[in-house]
Amino acid sequence: MATILEGRNLRKTYRLSRKNTVEALKGVEISIDKGEMVAIMGPSGSGKSTLMHILGLLHAPDPNHGPAPELRLAGENVAALSDNARTKIRARRMGFVFQDFNLVPTLTALENVLLACDYAGIRGKAAKDAAVEALGLVGLADRGGHKPSELSGGEQQRVAIARALVNKPEIILADEPTGNLDSDRSAEVLALFRQFNREHGQTIILVTHDSEVGEACDRVIKMRDGRIRDAGQRAGTPVMATQAVAVPLGAGHSGFDPDAASV
Ligand SMILES: Nc1ncnc2c1ncn2[C@@H]1O[C@H](COP(=O)(O)OP(=O)(O)O)[C@@H](O)[C@H]1O
Ligand SMILES: [Mg+2]
Repeated sequence: MATILEGRNLRKTYRLSRKNTVEALKGVEISIDKGEMVAIMGPSGSGKSTLMHILGLLHAPDPNHGPAPELRLAGENVAALSDNARTKIRARRMGFVFQDFNLVPTLTALENVLLACDYAGIRGKAAKDAAVEALGLVGLADRGGHKPSELSGGEQQRVAIARALVNKPEIILADEPTGNLDSDRSAEVLALFRQFNREHGQTIILVTHDSEVGEACDRVIKMRDGRIRDAGQRAGTPVMATQAVAVPLGAGHSGFDPDAASV
């Protein structure tokens, strides 16, 4: 299975004041396969969100105080790209979902989804069609005209998922996407991610506190104190034969796009 995201020497220190700093990431190495659905788990403050922001090119890893950081997206080193280049990659190849949904309150559900098309340079009828389709995929075809305040939490998160999906990104990154949802709504959201992962081979990286979410993923990466404590075991990878081609256990990649897989 091809690697889609690969990070090495990922460090991040936040400066709180002239004297006070927080070492949020202390040198992380991580590798994620194309088509994997991975959970990143760990205690609050262990660096999960910081890592997700770096993997999603929202923040750059620190270049100083250690070996040069590397971040490869489908083989290309993206660690040191300009802000502009990173923004383009984010808009076209990644989708983001956050705990608090992050919808624009003054826009309708459809307009919120269209915003993601606009960022990716897709406008007009193509954008409208894609946004309507994405809302349909998350079961909100009839809610496009509603503002976030007129939707339940579960519905708002599904709008956010439609927004993350609308450009058919290779990678979806979600930070505690079920953190503000009750267990039934969490299960729905999780099922949607699983469906997109199986049907479109999308790589999904979920930061979560919820062990049920972790169990539903192919692999759980555990973080503690700014480091990866356990990189987990890929589903279906024979323990003694990591060189062998891994066949995801029951992953049902029948809908997997063979062209996309040949990266
Ligand atoms: N913008 C920031 N400024 C200063 N400190 C931060 C910032 N973001 C995170 N931190 C600190 O970095 C550490 C890791 O945070 P975070 O990555 O959010 O962890 P997690 O998502 O696992 O809870 C924590 O100690 C947190 O307080
Ligand atoms: Mg966090």
